[in-house]
Amino acid sequence: MAAKSDAKEIKEAVSDENEQEKKEPKLTDLPGVGPAVAAKLESAGIYDLMSIAVITPSDLAEVAGVSPAVARKVIQAARKMLDLGFVDGTEYAKKRESIHYITTGSKNFDALLGGRGVESRSITEAFGAYGSGKTQVGLTLAVNVQLPIEQGGANGKCVFIDTEGTFRPSRIKQIAEKLGASPEKVLKNIFVARAFNSDHQILLLDKISEMIKEGEPIKLMIIDSLTAHFRAEFTGRGQLADRQQKLNRYIHQLMKLAETYNLAVYVTNQVMANPAQMFGDPTTAIGGHIVGHASTYRLYLRRGKGGSRVAKLIDSPNLPDNETIFFVSEAGVVDGKEEE
Ligand SMILES: Nc1ncnc2c1ncn2[C@@H]1O[C@H](COP(=O)(O)OP(=O)(O)OP(=O)(O)O)[C@@H](O)[C@H]1O
Ligand SMILES: [Mg+2]
Repeated sequence: MAAKSDAKEIKEAVSDENEQEKKEPKLTDLPGVGPAVAAKLESAGIYDLMSIAVITPSDLAEVAGVSPAVARKVIQAARKMLDLGFVDGTEYAKKRESIHYITTGSKNFDALLGGRGVESRSITEAFGAYGSGKTQVGLTLAVNVQLPIEQGGANGKCVFIDTEGTFRPSRIKQIAEKLGASPEKVLKNIFVARAFNSDHQILLLDKISEMIKEGEPIKLMIIDSLTAHFRAEFTGRGQLADRQQKLNRYIHQLMKLAETYNLAVYVTNQVMANPAQMFGDPTTAIGGHIVGHASTYRLYLRRGKGGSRVAKLIDSPNLPDNETIFFVSEAGVVDGKEEE
């Protein structure tokens, strides 16, 4: 029964998607954006209306060389053309109803994300140093998405795009076993693809659409890491804009998938030392502010005292910046050390 309504939903979503594709507006359709401004925007990695809709007026003013007032108008126009913003109450309620959540395995961590964990129709980005727990959170989510809804799952399958060769079937089995689930069954519900370069990573998204259209109940997509290939392939200073543009386009494709198929998307992001920063934590997420604006939830992960981990929520549009402690145990992400 559930499968049938899912299929219908997907069909509708797909036809919506096709319609959108036909009449996608261009940057120059915006009032006040001529070819010269459009060229400036494109060289900064902003090539479509969605990028404009999610940028801040001051950032836009800076890259486009226009006044903040003009920038604000352009952003408003982009949002209007994309039909972002207001929908009528029933439509809004319907959209919210279909949102599902996946528990991280830690109540504290879930609370940080608003109470129920990672949310569908949005991107959750975790950035942090080596060994901070980014992959472990992903592996735990890949298991937990399979739980029934009452237990904090989405009763669905997972796609895991592995760019670094760090996916470990044995670790999935361990987490599943600790949960009391069948390790083999859990592993079978995770579709793993190794992405060999950024183009391959991009291409894999088409494959995911296909699988969903064929009826696979995929509810979670993990990309670990989102940025590693992009960083490795665009190394020179002069290539920064190209990298940003490609990454930006990719993130919008992710958002579109998340929205179209009601998926939760979890991505990891490396950090690099930022020598310009004198105070605080000297690390900055790769991809800079464009990745930041597109992610609905950004988490900064780091090692804490006594083997703990700290997750800090940053720049959330609807939740306060906050942080919490969690642990990584044999059972995956947990609240306390004793749960081993
Ligand atoms: N079975 C396990 N039991 C307990 N802790 C584990 C287990 N497996 C991994 N860990 C912990 O997770 C850490 C690795 O974290 P993880 O691989 O998620 O880091 P990461 O943030 O993805 O790093 P990178 O940037 O290198 O990909 C290990 O150092 C260890 O502390
Ligand atoms: Mg990792």
